Amino acid sequence: MKRHKGLIGQVFIFLLSFVFSGSHGELIVSALSPMRVDTLAGANLTLTVFFSGAPDPALTWFKGPLPVVTWTIGSDSPADVAEKYREVLRLEPNGSLSFVHVPLGYDGNYTVEMTKSGLGTASVNFTLRVFEPFQNATVTAFPDLIQEGNEEFLLQYRMLRGVVEHQLWFFNGHPIAEEDSLRYSVRAASLAVREPHRNDAGRYTVSLSNPFSNVTLHLNVTVFYGPDEPRIQINPVQDFYVSEDSLTLSCQAGGSPQPLVEWTFDGETLADSQDGVLNLSRVQTSQGGLYTCLLRNQKTGVQRQQSIELRIYERPPGSPHCSVLSEDNLSLQYGCWWSGGTPPARLSFPEFSEGKGLENFTLTKNASVELDGKIVTCQAQHPVQNNHCSVTAKNPQNFLPTVRTHVDPEGKIVASIRCLSRATPPAVVSWFRGGEPVGDGSLISDDTTRLDIRHRNVSMLLVQNYTCTCRNPLGDRRKDVHLQGPSISNFSLFPHKDGTIVTLTWEVPPASIVTGFDIQMSGPPLVSAAANVTQSKGSTDAFRTILPKPGSARSADIFHLNPKSTYHFRVVPRALMIEGPPTKAHRIGPGEGLSGPAIAGIGAGIPCSLLFLFLVCGLVYLFFYWSRVKRRRTRYPVSRTADKVTTTQTQTPHNLLPGGPKSPPDYNRLHQTPSILSVAPPSFIPPPPVRVATTV
Ligand SMILES: *[C@@H]1O[C@H](CO)[C@@H](O)[C@H](O)[C@H]1NC(C)=O
Ligand SMILES: *[C@@H]1O[C@H](CO)[C@@H](O)[C@H](O)[C@H]1NC(C)=O
Ligand SMILES: *[C@@H]1O[C@H](CO)[C@@H](O)[C@H](O)[C@H]1NC(C)=O
Ligand SMILES: *[C@@H]1O[C@H](CO)[C@@H](O)[C@H](O)[C@H]1NC(C)=O
Ligand SMILES: *[C@@H]1O[C@H](CO)[C@@H](O)[C@H](O)[C@H]1NC(C)=O
Ligand SMILES: *[C@@H]1O[C@H](CO)[C@@H](O)[C@H](O)[C@H]1NC(C)=O
Ligand SMILES: *[C@@H]1O[C@H](CO)[C@@H](O)[C@H](O)[C@H]1NC(C)=O
Ligand SMILES: *[C@@H]1O[C@H](CO)[C@@H](O)[C@H](O)[C@H]1NC(C)=O
Repeated sequence: MKRHKGLIGQVFIFLLSFVFSGSHGELIVSALSPMRVDTLAGANLTLTVFFSGAPDPALTWFKGPLPVVTWTIGSDSPADVAEKYREVLRLEPNGSLSFVHVPLGYDGNYTVEMTKSGLGTASVNFTLRVFEPFQNATVTAFPDLIQEGNEEFLLQYRMLRGVVEHQLWFFNGHPIAEEDSLRYSVRAASLAVREPHRNDAGRYTVSLSNPFSNVTLHLNVTVFYGPDEPRIQINPVQDFYVSEDSLTLSCQAGGSPQPLVEWTFDGETLADSQDGVLNLSRVQTSQGGLYTCLLRNQKTGVQRQQSIELRIYERPPGSPHCSVLSEDNLSLQYGCWWSGGTPPARLSFPEFSEGKGLENFTLTKNASVELDGKIVTCQAQHPVQNNHCSVTAKNPQNFLPTVRTHVDPEGKIVASIRCLSRATPPAVVSWFRGGEPVGDGSLISDDTTRLDIRHRNVSMLLVQNYTCTCRNPLGDRRKDVHLQGPSISNFSLFPHKDGTIVTLTWEVPPASIVTGFDIQMSGPPLVSAAANVTQSKGSTDAFRTILPKPGSARSADIFHLNPKSTYHFRVVPRALMIEGPPTKAHRIGPGEGLSGPAIAGIGAGIPCSLLFLFLVCGLVYLFFYWSRVKRRRTRYPVSRTADKVTTTQTQTPHNLLPGGPKSPPDYNRLHQTPSILSVAPPSFIPPPPVRVATTV
């Protein structure tokens, strides 16, 4: 219809030109078909021309500048068609050019030029475009892997057949106008996107068209990127963690595709990471350190890592320990220990404000009076727990030397003098014998507080005076020790209610050398011993040893007493064969007036008994008087509070008897005072015993 209209228009033009030109006798060529022709490949078409003003002009068809057909209209010879074009081009007798099954390569400018001698030349231009409909059109991206940061990527379309007249690109439905952004450039059959960004990922559309067909192609473009800056999160958030805590580390970063996460610690990959989450439950201090999260983009291979320091602490076990030691007996070395923590505890002595140490800190100070008794505190700082300890240096305190005695396997008597003065740091003891330092180190114990002196002859032990000096950097304290021969203080007797058992207790002066005691008794034989008694009846008044006791004993129980009999008891201290002075004898038994002979006397004659009774009453009075005096006199001072060990014996001087046959009992002594010593008050209430006397 349209073409038909165009044809009519051309004819009209031609008629007009014919009318005007004909009158002038001029050659005129005009187009009857449209001058711009679009056609599908393979179609037949004709470029129709009309000429006038001259008969049979010479004619040439040009394709571009190249003549392809020449002929003289009306001549008998056939038209000269260029060989290459013969298949397609046909010249009509009236000069029009026909195309048979026009192929794709024939589009271009066609010009017909007519020449008539004397009448000049005339020409008409045609433009031919040959199209094909689109077939199997596709769009692809190049390169395959589009990565953020690349220089550019291309979207290219291809097709099996088809000639594109227009291409229009869209991104996510919006037209891409090249002018909008320098990043896009539309090229032949492609779109270039420069410096691709993650935002360039999306759906690209290209719309292709020609006069005979159109096609719309889509391509989803993925721009790979990342991993971005990793984000590490800890839950719970704390400055540090304590062993046995549980926590979760997570590592994430943006990326396409989502990056893979791998946690490493101490050069090892931790298997239990999943989605970047690392669960650490009941952590140990060994798990503290640098954790690295490695993120990898599977597609692009780009890796990125980030680390986090995990602090896992543990307080040192126990409590800090303070000490003060002596350095060359001149300076004090204050020490503080609290080891085993993570991190190590920081230790300091704020009083001295000098330095700090880790785990184990010592500070040496010159000994001075100010330090004596000063409480020195060590501050122990640890992130998990702060703690402290303190120590006080003290000069040697007052003390009382003690003497212990035993007999060694060689039969020598060993006296151990101990000088133990409470002091911090512990006092070092120097020993002197008769003013000279004790040379033989083997006599002195490792801690110097004890001196062991030994000799077969006890007298030899007693001739020398000993001195000990306890010294630490803050001072010293000196004591003289004069050893005493065997002796006893505070001898007491406690009868039990039924009268068959008696307990004896005694004490020993601190510097006395004693290796054993003889418990001596006078009176009738003990009940149990009566069966196999060997001694004669007549010797019941004599003191005889009934029970030996070791040097450590301070009490003895005597069993099987006859409540109706009277006994006397005394204790003899011994140092090997040497006996010390016996104690005064204590008596136990019914009053003298009720004794067997007295009753017999009463039976014999009352006057005699009365006289005897009177005598006894007198004696009782005397006893009370005497015991009151004795109570005042015999209370031996317990020398614990004494500054110096008694250097003289508290008892009357006594001749030390040499070893050998046992010395006969001192009968005179026994006979002089038996009644005075032995008359016990009828209602004797024993004082609370100093030592617990056990009765089996
Ligand atoms: C085109 O021309 C050729 C030769 O003249 C003819 O055989 C053919 O049928 C024509 N085709 C069409 C579609 O007109
Ligand atoms: C010329 O010849 C062709 C084919 O024979 C015809 O289609 C066309 O109309 C003719 N042109 C004129 C002006 O007669
Ligand atoms: C055809 O001619 C026009 C001007 O008339 C020109 O712009 C065009 O480029 C020419 N085409 C070819 C294929 O030479
Ligand atoms: C072109 O597309 C058609 C159907 O759309 C298909 O049958 C044919 O195989 C395709 N050809 C090629 C070369 O892809
Ligand atoms: C491309 O993306 C759109 C949505 O963005 C989706 O609907 C479509 O199926 C995708 N096409 C392909 C080939 O993946
Ligand atoms: C880590 O802990 C969380 C919560 O405690 C739990 O949901 C998750 O499954 C754990 N992951 C692993 C790998 O154990
Ligand atoms: C013990 O020593 C003293 C004093 O040196 C001496 O008189 C005595 O004879 C000695 N005794 C023995 C048994 O050696
Ligand atoms: C021991 O010391 C006492 C008292 O200090 C003194 O009387 C005695 O002579 C001294 N004995 C010796 C052997 O030095």
